[in-house]
Amino acid sequence: MSNSSEAELLHTFKGIPFTTRSSPELLKSLDTFDAREDDVLLVSYPKSGTHWLAGVITKLYNTQVTITSPIEFGDISKLEELNKLSSKRIIPTHLDYNMLPPNFKNKKCKMIYISRNPKDTAVSMFHYYRENPNLPTVDTWTAFFDLFLKGNGKHKCFFLAVLVSFLCTERDLPKVVKEITLFLSLNVSDNDIQDICEKSSFSEMKNDTEKENSDPSHTVCALTSNRKLIFRKGAVGDWKNHFTPKQNIRFEEIFNEKMKLSKMAKCLIY
Ligand code: A3P
Repeated sequence: MSNSSEAELLHTFKGIPFTTRSSPELLKSLDTFDAREDDVLLVSYPKSGTHWLAGVITKLYNTQVTITSPIEFGDISKLEELNKLSSKRIIPTHLDYNMLPPNFKNKKCKMIYISRNPKDTAVSMFHYYRENPNLPTVDTWTAFFDLFLKGNGKHKCFFLAVLVSFLCTERDLPKVVKEITLFLSLNVSDNDIQDICEKSSFSEMKNDTEKENSDPSHTVCALTSNRKLIFRKGAVGDWKNHFTPKQNIRFEEIFNEKMKLSKMAKCLIY
């Protein structure tokens, strides 16, 4: 578990907490980012399956693509590094829609929003904080549960994350992947989609170190820095091993209230 002090690890930008993985200079300069029309943006709340989605998209494209680390992670040199990459760039982000570099919207770049049962997201994030020495210290599940609901200080509030359109990772996978191909205008046969789904299973992705080792851009831009940390359990419903019945009721009350205008509420919670 980390013993780093919160003060060292956190700062806020436009009222939103960031860890020092995102330098204030980089965040300020995002507005100037030169997006390209063929960039694809993967938008998510952390621990929602970003790496799974990135892996599937890489497999769907026949041509060489580069998956970068989230655009908001790094220092002021990040945008220059991204500029040097040849197309096609697949760029993840956990930023709210209104904080995205405006060029992504002006150039009508494709954006895919991925989400997951928020109870599993909360549990996944709890373990990630516990195991990652670069993140603020988290002592107990009970303490983390409160912070997740309130979003006060240690991470952005889940319920304030803006929805654009969404995929839900717990639906029929071939159907989800088919939807992705249609959205990205890719011509991929149903057999290939089936094959990609099999290769994108939790166990395959956890063990897939080949790409990491052979990708020259890995050191500056790779999304996956530590496979063991990211691919932890990959289970649907792990929240049941953590939530008390009381926490479950409280979570659902808050979720239903905050998300009542969103289709996501109906799709995700159970
Ligand atoms: P757990 O911590 O519950 O295991 P992100 O990529 O956004 O950081 O999300 C990571 C979470 O997605 C982890 O959750 C990870 O196991 C899960 N995940 C990633 N790929 C997966 C896959 N192919 N199948 C199931 N879960 C997967």
